[in-house]
Amino acid sequence: MIRMPVILNLLTKSVIIFFAILYSTSLRAKEGMWIPATIKAHEKEMKAMGLEIPIEQLYNKDGTGLNNAVVLFGRGCTGEIISSKGLILTNHHCGYGSVQGLSSAENDYFANGFWAQNMHGEIPCKGLTVTFVRRMENVTDRVLAGISDTLKDAIRDSIIAVHVGLLEKDFMTITHLDATIKPYFEGNQYWVAITETYRDIRLVGFPPNSIGAFGGDVENWIWPRHTGDFSIFRVYAGADNKPADYSSANKPYQADQFFTISTAGYKEGDFTMVYGFPGTTREYISSYELSQVYDITDPVSIAARNRKLDIWSKHMGWTRDNFIKYTSKRAGVANGWKKWQGEMLGLKANDVIGKKQQFEKGFQKWAAADHTLPYANDLLAQMRSAAEAASPLILQDQYNREAALGIELIQQGAAFESVVACFRLGLSQTALHDTLKKVVAGMEGFYKNYDAPTDKDVFISLMVLYFNKCSNSLPEYFTSQYIAHNEDINVWAADVYNTSMLTSIVKVKDFAENATAADSTKLIGDPAWKLYDAINTMRKQKILPGLKDYYGHMHYLDRLYMKAQMAANKNRIFYPDANLTLRLTYGQVKGLDPEGPAKYSFQTNLKEVVALDDSTSDIFKVPKKLKDLYLKKDYGRWGVSGAMPVAFVASNHTSGGNSGSPVLNAKGQLIGTNFDRAYEGTMSDYYFDPTRCRNISVDIRYTLFIIDKFGGAGWLIDEMNIAHPKPNKK
Ligand code: ARG
Ligand code: GLU
Repeated sequence: MIRMPVILNLLTKSVIIFFAILYSTSLRAKEGMWIPATIKAHEKEMKAMGLEIPIEQLYNKDGTGLNNAVVLFGRGCTGEIISSKGLILTNHHCGYGSVQGLSSAENDYFANGFWAQNMHGEIPCKGLTVTFVRRMENVTDRVLAGISDTLKDAIRDSIIAVHVGLLEKDFMTITHLDATIKPYFEGNQYWVAITETYRDIRLVGFPPNSIGAFGGDVENWIWPRHTGDFSIFRVYAGADNKPADYSSANKPYQADQFFTISTAGYKEGDFTMVYGFPGTTREYISSYELSQVYDITDPVSIAARNRKLDIWSKHMGWTRDNFIKYTSKRAGVANGWKKWQGEMLGLKANDVIGKKQQFEKGFQKWAAADHTLPYANDLLAQMRSAAEAASPLILQDQYNREAALGIELIQQGAAFESVVACFRLGLSQTALHDTLKKVVAGMEGFYKNYDAPTDKDVFISLMVLYFNKCSNSLPEYFTSQYIAHNEDINVWAADVYNTSMLTSIVKVKDFAENATAADSTKLIGDPAWKLYDAINTMRKQKILPGLKDYYGHMHYLDRLYMKAQMAANKNRIFYPDANLTLRLTYGQVKGLDPEGPAKYSFQTNLKEVVALDDSTSDIFKVPKKLKDLYLKKDYGRWGVSGAMPVAFVASNHTSGGNSGSPVLNAKGQLIGTNFDRAYEGTMSDYYFDPTRCRNISVDIRYTLFIIDKFGGAGWLIDEMNIAHPKPNKK
């Protein structure tokens, strides 16, 4: 052991104590999204919190763990296997896109729901896949062999890419499965996931929107919640039970591992776990980077979207046509808008930036005293100056993206890049027409859901914001047009929307059908194209290169800072930020009371759903059949003392991507399906506060009740494994 001078030794000790205090509080104990292959380290705590099964049942090297019952559903959700015949449970909003492709005016599954009556009735969903993670292994030593921490990212990345490529190939050869290596802890660790992706997935059950999306955007991100946000699919496999393209000869996937369902319920304080694929979190960034979120990206996005959503909502109220055109777009824009408001509220209430600054002081003391990582002492100063230099650029580009490019007509200019490119190719007349026709056919989807008068109002409102906030950095063409229209944005908007052909599919098609090689000038002279081109060129020349440098440099610093944080606190168990890989998190069923005694229970029920019934509302209209079941208390084996639980909250650390995740009890049995977080705690992507952060789940008994009593699809329940079935008390 090398002896340090006494003063340094004391200093180091006090720093260690500082870090220990910061992280030993029981409040932080349940934070974390753990790599299943490392969960053993948490066994003691999990057992103390209530876990009743051997931890190896959750994950083990032999391939018999419950990880084999969890799937990445599509590209960004989670699903769980709930029968030996490959039945998958996920969220309604996760199945939504697939069902949109299967729905029509005659078969309106959003209005009426869908329930297959047997396996023959299950509908293939083109393009939908699910991925199982069979095994994970830490391959850091092999990926980072011979690479120093401070090697420049460009060189480092290219060496890593070679290592990763070779290793992935080796794993595939050995396992005959897919292998993907991803960075963790900002690139300080690398793990391989051995996976299998199935591509014949069929729709089995889908409640109508009046159950599966009940409460809509109004209840989105909110507790208490009343949504039956679930849907059911099935995995099909080839004769060898392996992934296969769709074929009517395929068979239901035979699952060795699937979740047993518990109808025994839960009470406040009960241990819970969530298994799934969280997408992105940034728990370890510096206060400087977090300030950019809190001071720039969140508030600018919210301000721009306030305007857009106001106008969309107004126009949606005017005609049914507009409602249909904008309802899905509105949900997407509003989802982020509401989450960021919750995020800002939580960051402020917890003074997270202040806490980070405090932490950084301690870190700096450690870095000055401890020389294991020679670069550590300089890191925060470098991060600070990089962030401060980039902030004006980030601010401006957030307005470029949310305000200027937030106007649909200008954004649509991007799609016309390929049209402009057609003219540059110097094609023959016939070839030009053929190509234009194809390009324009790809735009039908956009125009189907586009209303120019609505967008014109958005143009006026967002341009006012853009001109107010970016007066010194506007694209030249924007300023000259504004002046040319008497500095009146209304006049300018009227002119743009009257003269641009990008406002309607009819005009666009007409142009495509009649264009000659000389007509490229018509497009290049179009005001909407010119607006797009002006902002695009300005971003490419003045903004994006600087941002690219900044994010590249910051990524380098973030990696070193992550490593140094880990070195500074050897006793703390760190979890890697979410990166859409399989994670396990654990917590407790818990009400939500950030400001005092909980106003609401930790659970909602059908009585509360029916109390919200509003026949004039699109989102709060309870289906008649559900009301009838409620009035008769016809809950089958799923009710509890004459009540029907609907949703519940717990303190599991989840994020976007955990939608559809299995929520498990102490025995590893399924008690619900995760689908959201509570507004008060959406800042958990940056900071987890156990008093405010809650994941929201559909109670499995509500899911079973809807399948059985509402959907009349009891045959599905027969293939599930249900623990503690109660006698049928009708
Ligand atoms: N907030 C949840 C998520 O981030 C649910 C979104 C879908 N529901 C809705 N009402 N828009 O995905
Ligand atoms: N609804 C989110 C999703 O689709 C989950 C909510 C969250 O962000 O935690 O993944």
